[in-house]
Amino acid sequence: MAGRIPQAFLDDLLERVDIVEVIDRRVKLRKSGKNYTARCPFHEEKTPSFSVNPDKQFYYCFGCGAGGNALGFLMDYENLDFPRAVEALAGSAGLEVPREPGVGGQANAEREQSNKPLYALMEQVAAYYRQQLRKHPQAGRAVSYLKQRGLTGEIAKQFDLGFAPPGWDNLLKALGETPAQQTLLKDSGMLVENEAGKLYDRFRDRVVFPIRDQRGRVVAFGGRVLGDDKPKYLNSPETGIFHKGRELYGLFQARQANRKLERLLVVEGYMDVIALAQHGISNATATLGTATSKTHLERIYRLCPEVVFCFDGDEAGRKAAVRAMEAALPCMEDGRQARFLFLPEGEDPDTMVRTGGAEHFQELVRSAMPLEQFLFESVGEGLDTSSMDGKARLSKMALPYLRQLPEGVYRQLMFQALAQRTGLDLASIMQLEPAPPPPAPDYQPAGPPDRGEPESQLQPRQREASKPRAFGYSNMAQSAIALLLHQPDIARLVDLAPLAELEGEDVALLRELLALLQRRPESNTAMLLGHWYGTPEGELLSRLAGQERLIPKEGIEQQFVDTMTVLARAPHQSKLAAHVDKLKHTNYAEVSELEKQRLRELLQEKQQRDAKANKPR
Ligand code: UTP
Ligand code: MN
Repeated sequence: MAGRIPQAFLDDLLERVDIVEVIDRRVKLRKSGKNYTARCPFHEEKTPSFSVNPDKQFYYCFGCGAGGNALGFLMDYENLDFPRAVEALAGSAGLEVPREPGVGGQANAEREQSNKPLYALMEQVAAYYRQQLRKHPQAGRAVSYLKQRGLTGEIAKQFDLGFAPPGWDNLLKALGETPAQQTLLKDSGMLVENEAGKLYDRFRDRVVFPIRDQRGRVVAFGGRVLGDDKPKYLNSPETGIFHKGRELYGLFQARQANRKLERLLVVEGYMDVIALAQHGISNATATLGTATSKTHLERIYRLCPEVVFCFDGDEAGRKAAVRAMEAALPCMEDGRQARFLFLPEGEDPDTMVRTGGAEHFQELVRSAMPLEQFLFESVGEGLDTSSMDGKARLSKMALPYLRQLPEGVYRQLMFQALAQRTGLDLASIMQLEPAPPPPAPDYQPAGPPDRGEPESQLQPRQREASKPRAFGYSNMAQSAIALLLHQPDIARLVDLAPLAELEGEDVALLRELLALLQRRPESNTAMLLGHWYGTPEGELLSRLAGQERLIPKEGIEQQFVDTMTVLARAPHQSKLAAHVDKLKHTNYAEVSELEKQRLRELLQEKQQRDAKANKPR
């Protein structure tokens, strides 16, 4: 097998080629100011929103969010894998691609490399199931099932629906010719091993739904029984390429179908996504039998500014909605929106759209409840908010939620709304929301459990520490990243060490970016994008790189240093905050001894720090 391509060569290659030339050879570019534009080759559009920046050597589409460096462009445009794209680009520059033996180096690239056979296999499996839906003697049952659910062949094709035939070893026989192939099928979750060590097909006598990742690669399957057997749905297990807490069913198809996504719907089931698409509503995605996570939402908000969650109107739906709200709050930067659509009890989007039609469903979506309304309604449930006591309770209960919101206008408006609803003036509510926490010298570690009132586990002083700073830092980390992408050489201005303890995905990315730049200070924007190409981080990076910065050069340095200074001060507070925050949402009885111990330690550390800081001079 060919060895790894040395990073230095890749950087050198990107230095030598000009992205404008590379793209212009394939898509005619027009000069516009200092950039070049064209109609985007990655989605249908009438007016050009595809832009190529010669200074930074990257492209970005404001319509569909595609972006990257010359290599990424080649991979996507010509459908090449990474090594082939490097070969092609090197060839055009008259360079030979050197290889090194594959040890150490970049984890990402290696993971990609080692997962390659899995991706290829999943594609084969999908093709096999598709073919079975057309050819298998029993396929008629599956086809009539799909028809009876109102689906046409066209939509079945769009979602690549297939049929796993009845029997224990259809797939095993079709694709598991060699032991190596069988192992791979097992790793992919498509085969299961019984206690006797015998392998058999996971999906049997089911309609199957391939689950594609953002790049359209099949990473897993879901399968539904044709009748009323249990379990109704089976899903692939977690594998090297499938993490259900990250993937959203239908996201790939939604992006394909929409030039520009205005909003995405989050529904509960595969069939909901497909039935909506069948009725022309092509922006629905589903979580895969899990609650909506912050990771899901970050992914969505990188693509469009609005989410509408659709839930059953029953108790379970309400609960799921509260969970979704909790995941959404820390993501609610200005300009983003989340709304909640509650369907009548017993209905789901599939039945709704089939009985009421697309226009009616769209109307429901348009009138879905805004986050702010849902928050206050669910928090205020059962409270008599006309009484003083009820008002006080409302603010007490709402505050922990509002504090999850990132800094911004929306957050301020929400605090104002709380003031209005409680009749308390904003100043006294803000007082409840403390500035940097004062020392808490007389704090006694965790008292006796106070059942029935999870709120009151947090004594006022602990509460002060509970503002979940970690979330606010995500914004800050993103703006630091954006500045770095804009002008990579500012990495030299800061020290990496203080970030070491900060948690959060964006902070982790910032850390990696800084580490890379300090190792290879000559990296430019295009090289940076190249490092993360094809990963969710890569998408965030190209979006951030695509944002125009109007700050003058000196301003950028200052702003970067300021942002980093605030971040550097964060870790101690945020660790404690995150911990307290976690406990706040847990029943006291469920808090493990270990967690309590950890909390005590963190509080002690904090007291010592505070004591030091407050020593009389
Ligand atoms: P639902 O039970 O709401 O089913 O499950 P549905 O989507 O309306 O299914 P139909 O209309 O009867 O076909 C919603 C989602 O929960 C997961 C699946 O992801 C499903 O799409 N689920 C459900 C499972 O993983 N296993 C199950 O047994 C049931
Ligand atoms: Mn259903």
